[in-house]
Amino acid sequence: MEVVIQSSAAALAELAADTIERLLTAKADTVLGLATGSSPLAVYDELVRRHQAGRMSFARTRAFLLDEYVGLPTEHSERYRNVIERGFTDRVDFAAGAVHAPDGDAEDLTGACAAYEAAIEVAGGVDLQLLGIGTDGHIAFNEPGSSLAGRTRIKTLTAQTRLDNARFFGGDVDAVPLHCLTQGLGTIMAARHLVLLATGVGKAEAVHHLVEGAVSAMWPATVVQHHPHVSVLLDDAAASRLRLADYFRQVWADKPAWQVL
Ligand code: F6R
Repeated sequence: MEVVIQSSAAALAELAADTIERLLTAKADTVLGLATGSSPLAVYDELVRRHQAGRMSFARTRAFLLDEYVGLPTEHSERYRNVIERGFTDRVDFAAGAVHAPDGDAEDLTGACAAYEAAIEVAGGVDLQLLGIGTDGHIAFNEPGSSLAGRTRIKTLTAQTRLDNARFFGGDVDAVPLHCLTQGLGTIMAARHLVLLATGVGKAEAVHHLVEGAVSAMWPATVVQHHPHVSVLLDDAAASRLRLADYFRQVWADKPAWQVL
């Protein structure tokens, strides 16, 4: 696991965008895994800037979202498919049909989950997966107690996650759906490179467990300690509970110029 600590979210976004730009240059038909929520927003803005500057094209890229709420009407502004289109994919040149999300509106939700796993497989798997982390240590919507090997399935959101996400629903926690479809930790672990972003002191405890805690379903993100290629990008506040923070800063400062995330 590589942990990079920077003083601004903008610097983290640059790093993540550099990594994605390098990947797309090497492999135009890259499969990206996209997260919603606030953590990756600056990354998406930076990718849009680079696209507008003529540096990057997503015309051959395919994308898979991590998760989707169950039961929000198609046009609901907080449906994750709408969120990602508004915040990123409609602002660049993805081809029609290239962006996939679990179908939280399906009559057969279990079938929709199996179909989603199959679609990722057919695409050749995810090359780079962007991740945020919940204050309770979830990634995607794998809440505490989730199987460390789970696949895309229906989950019930915790009270904490619904409280955290109420800010997207006008502060009304009751408007936040109770259920979601989410890639499992097993699905996420199959991606070839994981890039996790966390900013703010509210994430410090979860980040401490992610990087330095014991692997446990109680802090689901800890499973990524078993992944061979993980980049954890943190601002100072999110890194504030890391015992190894000084070491990680030193490693980054001494990094040879040729070594990339
Ligand atoms: C969103 C997702 C979630 C968020 C997490 C952090 O697709 O999978 O795991 O990444 O809840 O959310 P923010 O970034 O809003 O703090």
